[in-house]
Amino acid sequence: MITLTHNKTLTGSSEWEALEGHWQQIQPQHMRELFDSNPDRFEQMSMASCGIMLDYSKNRITSETMDLLFGLARAAGLPDWIGRMFSGEPINTTEGRAVLHTALRNRSNRPVSVAGEDVMPEVNQVLEQMGDFVQQLHSGEWKGYTGKRITDVVNIGIGGSNLGPLMVCEALGHYRIPDIQVHFVSNVDATHLVETTKQLDPETTLFIVASKTFTTQETLTNAHAARRWCLNSLQDDNAIASHFVAVSTNAKAVAEFGIDTNNMFVFWDWVGGRYSLWSAIGLPIAVAVGMECFHELLAGAHAMDVHFRNAELEQNMPVILALLGVWYANFAGAATYAVLPYDQYLRLLPDYLQQADMESNGKRVTRDGAVVDYTTGPVVWGAAGTDGQHAFYQLIHQGTQMIPADFIVPVHSHNELGDQHAKLLANCLAQTEAMMRGKSSEEAESELKASGMESDQIAALLPHKIFPGNNPTNTLLVDKLTPGRLGSLIALYEHRIFVQGIIWNLNSFDQWGVELGKQLANVILPELQGELPIGKHDCSTAGLLKYYLSLRAGKG
Ligand code: F6P
Repeated sequence: MITLTHNKTLTGSSEWEALEGHWQQIQPQHMRELFDSNPDRFEQMSMASCGIMLDYSKNRITSETMDLLFGLARAAGLPDWIGRMFSGEPINTTEGRAVLHTALRNRSNRPVSVAGEDVMPEVNQVLEQMGDFVQQLHSGEWKGYTGKRITDVVNIGIGGSNLGPLMVCEALGHYRIPDIQVHFVSNVDATHLVETTKQLDPETTLFIVASKTFTTQETLTNAHAARRWCLNSLQDDNAIASHFVAVSTNAKAVAEFGIDTNNMFVFWDWVGGRYSLWSAIGLPIAVAVGMECFHELLAGAHAMDVHFRNAELEQNMPVILALLGVWYANFAGAATYAVLPYDQYLRLLPDYLQQADMESNGKRVTRDGAVVDYTTGPVVWGAAGTDGQHAFYQLIHQGTQMIPADFIVPVHSHNELGDQHAKLLANCLAQTEAMMRGKSSEEAESELKASGMESDQIAALLPHKIFPGNNPTNTLLVDKLTPGRLGSLIALYEHRIFVQGIIWNLNSFDQWGVELGKQLANVILPELQGELPIGKHDCSTAGLLKYYLSLRAGKG
């Protein structure tokens, strides 16, 4: 039996120990005091790049904290790792792959080589192919099998082949092209496909089957069902060519499925699934908002890449965000991290970031395979403000856990309706202020007194009216949610994840943890279908299987 070694390199380092000691000094301090003692705190702890202003002054930090964190990043060799990622080194070591989503949006066209070959010509070629296809769809030149124009496009994919394009299509709702609707089907639960296709006409519907591997059970099951739905109506296998295209790295499997590889958009193994919206996986985005907007999205991400690659750590937005996350996860004991967009268009950003972050840094061993003795990726969650305020913010204000949170809000809205944007912004800023300041016992008591309450009532109510505050937040003010800004924002978070992976010494680009469930599902499926007897399982799983089978057999 192989025993895993434990890694003490990080936690035993002088940088780490200094930060542990420093948290002991910071912990008793309230952010109110930090603000009171330094009127320049905002100027000193805010920065802007790519149309995004980051205010990180409402954090439980001093300038010394940041210095210590930058020291930790340097000790981890961060600047060197940034260079290694951008230059196409195979830093995804367990899969032997480069990590080059940045090449997909490399608008400078600077050569980027993988194994000695410049990938940019291929990247640009696929962009052109996407542009031609989108033009044909929008102009009506691409026709369904019966000669009708395509009005609906359904993306069938899951994980990175769904969440990125879905989130971006929602986020760029303002830029949506009329006359063509884009839908997404991901869940293997047939309800997803059935409810989506209910409103559609097979003669005017085109499916994009999006799967990096083209082996994913959920996607292939839905794609086969969509194929049957199409053929039930069109009654001719030749119809498939007009109603199915594929996005994949696996041409053989695409051909086996029955999609003409001329109708296939390729990408490459150096694009991770959760980092793939910039590749042909972004095809539904280009269909929904047009190729021009897609190019702007890429350009915005590229601008953030340039910033990340070139800015000093002290002025580097993804680095600052990442280090603050490390501070709370590793030294202050925060187990979760909330993303709170004050923009309805960004309501799916938390879902997207869940995969991006948790699949990347939800790891328990280092790059060398040693078990870590520190916390890695936190639980990422969130929802659009102000809905969240009326749901879970109570726990942030008065619960027992510290929940570091990012508030994201645009300065200009696409929908300036009366004073609604001012109200949205007021709520956003009020929440960050409340989370920082809280309400002291004295403040709560004087409010209750002013309301004319009797002292025995005040005594009973007072503990419920106190807000401890001191909950850390970042505020990201985005000038306007254009395709370019959205690209910068997503790239900002991608690089935040990368930096944390470097500090934690993880391979952020594999995802072996999703395999076990897939393997076991393949064992259980034939048992559920009565093709094999129930095999060796724990008594819970076996009991559930038997109960299900007896009900399906009409015995319960
Ligand atoms: O959930 C595991 C995963 O491999 C993700 O990383 C990926 O985005 C998703 O499945 C879909 O994979 P594919 O694009 O190969 O169908």
